[in-house]
Amino acid sequence: MKGNSKMKIGVLVSGGGSNLQAIMDAVAVGALDVEIACVGSDNPDAKGLERAEKAGIPTFVTDYSAFFARWKEGAALPEDFSLETVASRQSLMKGSDPDILKAFLEKRALAEAALLAALAPYKIDLLVLAGFMRVLTPYFIDALNTDSNRPRIMNIHPALLPAFPGTDGYGDTFRYGCKVGGCTVHFVDYGEDSGPIIGQSCFPIESSDDLDAVKKKGLAEEWRLFPDCIGLYAEDRLNVVERQGTRVVEILPPAAR
Ligand code: GRF
Repeated sequence: MKGNSKMKIGVLVSGGGSNLQAIMDAVAVGALDVEIACVGSDNPDAKGLERAEKAGIPTFVTDYSAFFARWKEGAALPEDFSLETVASRQSLMKGSDPDILKAFLEKRALAEAALLAALAPYKIDLLVLAGFMRVLTPYFIDALNTDSNRPRIMNIHPALLPAFPGTDGYGDTFRYGCKVGGCTVHFVDYGEDSGPIIGQSCFPIESSDDLDAVKKKGLAEEWRLFPDCIGLYAEDRLNVVERQGTRVVEILPPAAR
């Protein structure tokens, strides 16, 4: 994308990191032409960190719990944080009590400032959320998304959005009795799992499937879909356009730009 240099991605994980592994494997076999510059986590014990270390990729931890504790002790907020601005942009906690919203955004601003500082040295083009179980507020998102036509944060979600946003996509799909499940890769915006959809993949749910079987089928789709979507971004083939009031992603043919 930038001359001959490879696109640099950062990956954030909170747990097992099987999606990270799929991305690393795609890079290793040459199916995905990007450099994984760093892997970070909010969880010091995330197995994903071990996977990265094993592959020689630099890692870091931004321990959210520690920042939340510092907020309770009255730690100074980041200088560039404006509660008014971030509160007016966010749509994660619409209509919530102002004091609860204030605490929610301030705590996260402390952690997100540290996350931004940890990422800064790697000068990444794209941040990939691969099972990162923290919502990101406009404070963080706006720091990365400096060009509205080129969002820079991509997430994978375990359901066919816009159905079943939230933390338990496969569980919600299964409990609802859906006959098809799926996963979605999307750009991150100010809402919960609400940003422009880049790619989706689905699988049948049979009567004999239990929740574990659904998760297994879903993860197998995720491992294929996520590297593909990152590849489209690296090839500069994702165009965000406004269609009837909604921001959507057009996928351009190869080498169209
Ligand atoms: C995946 O199901 C992903 O869709 C969701 O969290 C899970 C992460 O799995 N956001 P892993 O850590 O990549 O194995």
